[in-house]
Amino acid sequence: MQTAVALRTDKLPQTIAARTQRVYDHLAAVYPASTFLFHSKAHKQALEMSGLRNGMSVLEIATGSGEMFRRIIKANSIGYTCGVDLSPNMAARTQRVARRKFPAANLDCQAVDARVLPFRCDAFDAVFCCYLFELLGGADIESTLEEIHRVMKPRATFTMVLIGQHTRLFNKAYHVAGSLVPAFWGRQVATKFPELVKRANFRIVEDIQLRQGFYPSRILTARKD
Ligand SMILES: C[S@@+](CC[C@H](N)C(=O)[O-])C[C@H]1O[C@@H](n2cnc3c(N)ncnc32)[C@H](O)[C@@H]1O
Repeated sequence: MQTAVALRTDKLPQTIAARTQRVYDHLAAVYPASTFLFHSKAHKQALEMSGLRNGMSVLEIATGSGEMFRRIIKANSIGYTCGVDLSPNMAARTQRVARRKFPAANLDCQAVDARVLPFRCDAFDAVFCCYLFELLGGADIESTLEEIHRVMKPRATFTMVLIGQHTRLFNKAYHVAGSLVPAFWGRQVATKFPELVKRANFRIVEDIQLRQGFYPSRILTARKD
């Protein structure tokens, strides 16, 4: 009942994956600029909060053009770092650049829909996911959190970055942008997210908000107990 009410009021009641894939495929070559300007501070903070140790088996979901992926590889040079993104162009770019910059690293990045992860249960010590959940419909957010929980080892850490909702003017602008191009912007979900994370059987261990210029982010670290 609660979920049904939430879905009725949701600005993105269903994932529009085919359109999202097309939009991000077209943007793969220019997306690094946007990440540098708006996401890099949150990426750095997320890595610090994650407790990642070199030698782990690490998954990043929705790598985009691979800026966070390369940060993770640098910190996990003797471990295994795996990335996935819905957009084949994003995934291919991420893998190509990472292999060029870190030829000795054990890494892999493939085009995969996060809603069905092609990994066995209990596979990863740490999972990262930055700025994806805005693009998933309500029911898919819940099932994707369950998928992430499934592929994590017990005691593993899940670090997620969301678009913050703590700046009123930004929220208004985002609302307009999301109505115009929902496949690219989606809608903000940060405020209700801690509740969804807890419902998926994670324990939240840290929750912070920051801004890079006018762009707000919320970063959560959660553990599978
Ligand atoms: C806003 S970008 C964020 C990119 C990167 N994580 C960052 O922090 O800069 C969202 C990314 O999510 C990917 N994406 C969207 N829906 C997805 C899905 N269902 N499964 C996997 N990736 C998805 C898009 O292709 C895009 O690269």
